[in-house]
Amino acid sequence: MSYLVLARKLRPKRFQDLIGQDHIWMTLKNAIKSDRVAHAFLFTGPRGTGKTSCARILTKAINCISLVEGEPCGECENCVEINQGISTDVIEIDAASNRGIEHIRELRDSVKFSPAKCQYKTYIIDEVHMLTTESFNALLKTLEEPPAHVKFILATTDQHKVPATVKSRCQRFDFANISLEAMTEYLKKVVKEEALNISDSALTMIAKSSAGGLRDALTAMDMLISFSGETVDDEKVFELLGLIDVREIDQLLKEVIAKNVAGVIEHFNRFVANGHSITQFVTDLMRALKDLSLVATIPLEKLNWLGLLPDQITLYKELSSRVTTSTLQQLFDIAVEIEMQVKKSNQAQICAEMGLIRMCSIESLEGVAEIISVLRDSSSQKKNPLN
Ligand SMILES: Nc1ncnc2c1ncn2[C@@H]1O[C@H](COP(=O)(O)OP(=O)(O)OP(=O)(O)O)[C@@H](O)[C@H]1O
Ligand SMILES: [Mg+2]
Ligand SMILES: [Zn+2]
Repeated sequence: MSYLVLARKLRPKRFQDLIGQDHIWMTLKNAIKSDRVAHAFLFTGPRGTGKTSCARILTKAINCISLVEGEPCGECENCVEINQGISTDVIEIDAASNRGIEHIRELRDSVKFSPAKCQYKTYIIDEVHMLTTESFNALLKTLEEPPAHVKFILATTDQHKVPATVKSRCQRFDFANISLEAMTEYLKKVVKEEALNISDSALTMIAKSSAGGLRDALTAMDMLISFSGETVDDEKVFELLGLIDVREIDQLLKEVIAKNVAGVIEHFNRFVANGHSITQFVTDLMRALKDLSLVATIPLEKLNWLGLLPDQITLYKELSSRVTTSTLQQLFDIAVEIEMQVKKSNQAQICAEMGLIRMCSIESLEGVAEIISVLRDSSSQKKNPLN
């Protein structure tokens, strides 16, 4: 059998398989159980968070012959055909490549005909924001009052581009980014079920680098497996996900705290030489300073959601014992200044370097506070010579 990428092999088949979207599928299941299913839905949210999967599950659920607790059985004729993508009653339209009015006219004509086997004829329109204004207008009437045997499920990653007239005719569900913790848990399960050998910290790295999209995480895993086989070592993950530079920033931060200008500039140059923009550098530096400040103030066991890697935890703990939170705040303020200068100036690299040099030369605020308190003490002693 030909190889199926993980993201397709693992496409959720039941509502409860959808990770991190409980608020959506619980509502849909209740609607199905109480027979109050709307005629048009709009699924919005970032890419790879389950919109198309949920549209297909919903389609199965409204047509399933032996529904189990609001979930499609997966075994009846309708479920099987929809799963295989061969049901003639489910029409999936990619609006990105069918934007024109002629496609919507065709759709309007076909809506009249009854479904062949299923109870409902379901139109799933993906990337619906890509339709032209003319197409949207042509769709409105049908969307508002389709024949009783028709359901519409529209999906989009860009809900701002969907006209209000369309939105107001649909029941809307906003898909959320999947949290780092939920995603890492899920990836652990996948590793176990697929008999792979990938460490937990590598999974954290994968989850973190996919920023809330589960498809991206599974695609990254596929890439790593095809590169290294079933055992994926952490160094490969670092390399392939472009995370080498996370280390570069961490090492740069270490040198800033040690006030070692030469070391700081060396790491900065290496980061830039790896092909990153100065803007990216400042963003990463700000994020590292923020993470370090969190480690300095909040107990580690409450910081699981931050997704720090084991090496980072060791380093940040060590660094946070060497600086105060107000020094970190000062460093962050300088990073903000660098960011503003970088945006305005044509000499972004020079501005960044000067900012880094300044970071290495700040005096700890505690020092200043101490001086002020000493001055205060001495001036009050002068006023009260008897003390
Ligand atoms: N919430 C989720 N729970 C479980 N798996 C998911 C989830 N979201 C995405 N996936 C995985 O990613 C794959 C793609 O998901 P899906 O096609 O549903 O995303 P989408 O939101 O429609 O993305 P796009 O906006 O890019 O079309 C699924 O086959 C599944 O493997
Ligand atoms: Mg989709
Ligand atoms: Zn079924």
